[in-house]
Amino acid sequence: MTETTQTAPTKTILRALAGEVQAVPPVWMMRQAGRYLPEYRATRAQAGDFLSLCYNPELAAEVTLQPIRRYGFDAAILFADILLIGQALGAKLWFAEGEGPRMSVITDRAGLAALKPADAVHETLAPVYETVRILSRELPRETTLIGFAGAPWTVATYMVAGRGTKDQGPAHAFKDADREGFSQLIDRLTEATIEYLSAQIAAGAEVVKLFDSWAGSLKGADFDDFALKPTATIIAALKARYPGIPVIAFPREARERYIGFARATGADGLALDNSVDAEWAAEYVQPDGCVQGNLAPHHMVTGGAELVSETKRIVRAFSKGPHIFNLGHGITPDANPDNVSRMLEAIRG
Ligand code: CP3
Repeated sequence: MTETTQTAPTKTILRALAGEVQAVPPVWMMRQAGRYLPEYRATRAQAGDFLSLCYNPELAAEVTLQPIRRYGFDAAILFADILLIGQALGAKLWFAEGEGPRMSVITDRAGLAALKPADAVHETLAPVYETVRILSRELPRETTLIGFAGAPWTVATYMVAGRGTKDQGPAHAFKDADREGFSQLIDRLTEATIEYLSAQIAAGAEVVKLFDSWAGSLKGADFDDFALKPTATIIAALKARYPGIPVIAFPREARERYIGFARATGADGLALDNSVDAEWAAEYVQPDGCVQGNLAPHHMVTGGAELVSETKRIVRAFSKGPHIFNLGHGITPDANPDNVSRMLEAIRG
């Protein structure tokens, strides 16, 4: 059990997640350590490949710190990947250059039976905890350290298909053919995620975020069973172990299901993708608590007057409630690093 402060937090991100409305919203960016930065590409080349970078604590900490040095973001996000947990459970994982992730496939209960138990994940993931420890020593005192994991559904979509898919078809097929068997996979991932995030918090993560990038492909009872409930279970378990630990949920493209999601899951912050209108979310989602988002990532490529006007519109739309400025999804490799500075200037003045 960590010591949780009973006094009001001082870091801007923690204040926003505690519900404070700030005149200038704190800001960070999804994928802020990434290929749009020349210093990232240099360190990645030094590591050899992407997975070697994820499992090298010194170099993973270095790339996490690069955007903090360059831009002074209010938060740093641990450098790792949501698919490492699948590998820690015994699946094979590799990144085909220029093609994205590849995994061995689990399409039925036999595949599930071959996976390791949830508490076995620490063996593989120990270097990630070391990255967190280095970062909690080296980050500037005003910068919040965010740990993360993929939400069970999103990680399952890769473990079942063996790769990223447009419609998450293979995971839907497993779910529809054997709902009970698929639920067992989700339960294993839920338990493993509780283990993984608990260890990140113990190592020094001050906030954790759950990425459910493919939540938008779940409808009705499927959304409840495979997006909402696993998120609620993970948050309840983390808060039982670490009272006061703030959690950000990101059920990407949940549309109208963003309404009430934070209340139903116990999330302190809700990350909004850029398909959501900021004025709509300010009215229907933000009354429940802190929202994060939601500038479209393409502005980091296109820049210009629209980048500035869109940034200011989002700041204004969310100005009456707690808000953390972010993009609606990760910054892309073709982004211009100067546009990030322009965005920060538009937010901070
Ligand atoms: O936000 C951050 O900077 C923290 C680190 C982070 C990465 N991936 C590093 C990464 C985080 C939080 C993720 C999350 C992640 N990974 C998600 C959920 C968020 C989202 O984008 O929807 C998903 C679906 C993955 C799986 C994944 N990893 C894919 C599909 C890819 C290939 C796509 C791509 O951009 O090439 C990755 C690789 C990856 N993860 C990169 C980075 C910086 C690029 C790898 C490289 O350097 O070549």
